Amino acid sequence: MKSSTSLQKRLSLGLTLGITLLWLGATLATWWVVRHELDEVFDSALEETARRILPLAAQTAGHEHIDLPSLPEEGPGVRTENLAYLVRDGNGHVVMQSHDADREDFNPQPVEGFTNTTHHRRYSAVMPDGRFTIEVAQPLSHRDEAAREALLALLLPLLALVPISWLGTLLIVRVSLRSVLAYRRAIEARGAGDLSPVRAAKLPAEFDPLAEAVNHLLQRMRKALEAERSFTANSAHELRTPLAATLAQVQRLRHEAPQALQTRIGKIEGSLHDLARLSEKLMQLAKAEGGGLLSQAPKDLIPLLAHSVEEWNGSHGQRIMLTLPARHSLYSAIDPDAFGILLRNLIENGLKYGAQDQAIQVSLDDEAVLRVTNSGAVVPDVVLQHLTERFVRGNTDVSGSGLGLAIVNTIVQGVKGSLMLVSPAPGKVDGFEAMVRLPLVECSSP
Ligand SMILES: Nc1ncnc2c1ncn2[C@@H]1O[C@H](COP(=O)(O)OP(=O)(O)OP(=O)(O)O)[C@@H](O)[C@H]1O
Ligand SMILES: [Mg+2]
Repeated sequence: MKSSTSLQKRLSLGLTLGITLLWLGATLATWWVVRHELDEVFDSALEETARRILPLAAQTAGHEHIDLPSLPEEGPGVRTENLAYLVRDGNGHVVMQSHDADREDFNPQPVEGFTNTTHHRRYSAVMPDGRFTIEVAQPLSHRDEAAREALLALLLPLLALVPISWLGTLLIVRVSLRSVLAYRRAIEARGAGDLSPVRAAKLPAEFDPLAEAVNHLLQRMRKALEAERSFTANSAHELRTPLAATLAQVQRLRHEAPQALQTRIGKIEGSLHDLARLSEKLMQLAKAEGGGLLSQAPKDLIPLLAHSVEEWNGSHGQRIMLTLPARHSLYSAIDPDAFGILLRNLIENGLKYGAQDQAIQVSLDDEAVLRVTNSGAVVPDVVLQHLTERFVRGNTDVSGSGLGLAIVNTIVQGVKGSLMLVSPAPGKVDGFEAMVRLPLVECSSP
């Protein structure tokens, strides 16, 4: 199955990426406008400077001869101007210049208006009478620097925005999904047989239809299972009386029938016995699946086990060896009737499939682990894995319906215990062991 991505991760990633892209887009648009405006401002400063200096230069040049100042050396304390200018007379002679003007940056034959070189933006203006021409030059790097600083100022907040947006979205989504996680835990925590509606506290509105659909589905499953169980239990129950009556009739018939018919009537009697056993197992299965496997008050398993084994020993020639735990009492939440059914099926199997001349070991330890061990042929692993399925039987001539271990497994799952089938039995070369771990309640009295 394709692994699903977390909604939390998807939302926080998507939102952060979206915000970042929008911010970047807005930054680029703003930067473009700022750059444009900066160019306008710088151009207007160039033009303004030229128009203000030109009349002053004309005035000064009309009165006296101007000694051109030499270009200052580069060094500490020397300020590099952003604007440099050069004033020429009508013959093209330089009559005035700013102190850091480098003639390389100026056009020997200035053209009126704005012009660009690779490093400078220049503006040139001419006096209306044509006597003087001024050219003002500004390094392009100055404009680039201003544009770069504007871009940085717009981009810097993004560095903080990305982690804040990521964390914020994560937090909001986590808080919003808290009830959904609680809902998931409520479903996970329930046992296999619990089909009651899931109670969810304040799910987000989008999840309400889902929760309703789940509860609806659970209700339908519960009804279907209840119908199936009650049909099984009722049929088995209804069959019991007519079967018992028929069996009694057949037994009477066998007594009265001539010798030639005895074998055939014996077979019919055997089949009726099998049918009666099957109906008994079906009733046990219906009980195991019907819930109610945990009792309100925990019961001490030791007397229950000791009593059952004593009864079996009474009817089966003392074949069962019982080992009880060292402690005096062992309380478990399993319903005593369910424990009785589980024990009956395991002991019955041990007696049926174990070597007939060997004893069956039944033990319960301090951790509420019940073991029923018998000797006999080894059951192969492939067969062993499927023995807890309904109507599955091993390679045997002994009659049976294949429901005993399925009943045990259903009870064990219903009480949240565990069942393990092992063959050969641990520490032996042959035999079979069923190991059941039951829920233990740590209290000295119920
Ligand atoms: N103690 C055991 N030793 C060896 N084989 C066993 C033992 N218990 C179960 N088996 C094998 O597992 C199979 C399934 O057992 P299960 O109790 O489910 O059904 P069953 O005994 O055949 O019929 P029933 O419904 O009457 O119990 C048996 O047919 C048998 O082959
Ligand atoms: Mg059995």
